[in-house]
Amino acid sequence: MRVQVWDYRKEYEQHRESILAAVDKVFSSGRLILGESVDALERAFAKYSNACHGVGVNSGTDALLIALKALGIGPGDEVITVANTAVPTVSAIVTAGATPRFVDVDPETYLMDTGHLENAVSSRTKCILPVHLYGQCVDMDTVNDFAETHGLKVLEDCAQSAGARYKNRKCGSLSDISAFSFYPTKNLGAYGDGGMVVVRDSDELADRARRLRTYGMQGAYYSEEHGYNSRLDTVQAAILLHKLEFLDGWLDRRRQIARNYERQLAGLGLVLPLEGEGNYHSYHLYVVRHSERDRIIEELKVRDIYVNINYPFPIHTMPGYADLGYVEGDLPITEALAKKIFSLPIYPTMSDEEQDAVCRALVEILS
Ligand SMILES: Cc1ncc(COP(=O)(O)O)c(C=O)c1O
Repeated sequence: MRVQVWDYRKEYEQHRESILAAVDKVFSSGRLILGESVDALERAFAKYSNACHGVGVNSGTDALLIALKALGIGPGDEVITVANTAVPTVSAIVTAGATPRFVDVDPETYLMDTGHLENAVSSRTKCILPVHLYGQCVDMDTVNDFAETHGLKVLEDCAQSAGARYKNRKCGSLSDISAFSFYPTKNLGAYGDGGMVVVRDSDELADRARRLRTYGMQGAYYSEEHGYNSRLDTVQAAILLHKLEFLDGWLDRRRQIARNYERQLAGLGLVLPLEGEGNYHSYHLYVVRHSERDRIIEELKVRDIYVNINYPFPIHTMPGYADLGYVEGDLPITEALAKKIFSLPIYPTMSDEEQDAVCRALVEILS
């Protein structure tokens, strides 16, 4: 049995009529840019996140960029983040004109190790950008306390964590502003690109983000500040509005798959994901670790089972970011993990049979 690391086609089969009806509603409405579907999704997703405002933008990367700009971050400012994240986290900081400062990650949860913040902070630091990587929240109480003590802003990268909770609070409401991605593979995925800036309670911050997504304009044809064209596509908003109703059920299914992996893969020498205390992990990705990672992946491929590596190269070692001045050895935990981690298939429409096939193959390979 062939098992892909992710596939949306079963979901499309199940939701085809509603998705096509949503597309048709937009095409028939007489309005193809912004409009009711975007407004309705912004309201619904902000409510889902226990926040006051949502601003739909064209990707998670732009959500990060626009959130940084709305916070007033730019040239000369430093933003503390991690190097084991997706490139866009760092790309957004650089596009904003600021400088990323990396801290190492916790060896058990793979999330920002808040114990390193003290060493990373400088007089130029303006913001901490914790990444809720793989779908699990960073220790936000510590991040927020540290930020308050040092007068820093906090921007959560929630691209992978829609629906995740920390101490019973939804991500997106754990700091002033956060960035979500609706990239198709995400917990709430569009049928194309999409993203959202979510603002917990500041009308001013939300207004600025809204302005920045349309050329810095408040009214028509008059720019208050330099901005962008980064509107969430109306068709995608209509599809997402339909899909949002199913998000909690899909997270339940992701967690069920995770628990099943835990049962079937215990004792094989694979290090399985750790759900931190007080966390409701959304299991966007199910990341395991083994020192013979490359051999295991090859042997899975022979059995027609496909996995991913999220991510194989730490960002501070990439040529695109060489000018930041980091060298191999600067982030030892991040670097060691990148050589051992891989992500098993996990998505709501994955069948029990597909999951059993993955587990059977791993038992064969590792026993
Ligand atoms: C952690 C993280 N941040 C940011 C992004 C950027 O999102 P997008 O692909 O929608 O631009 C992604 C997704 O690729 C991500 O995984």
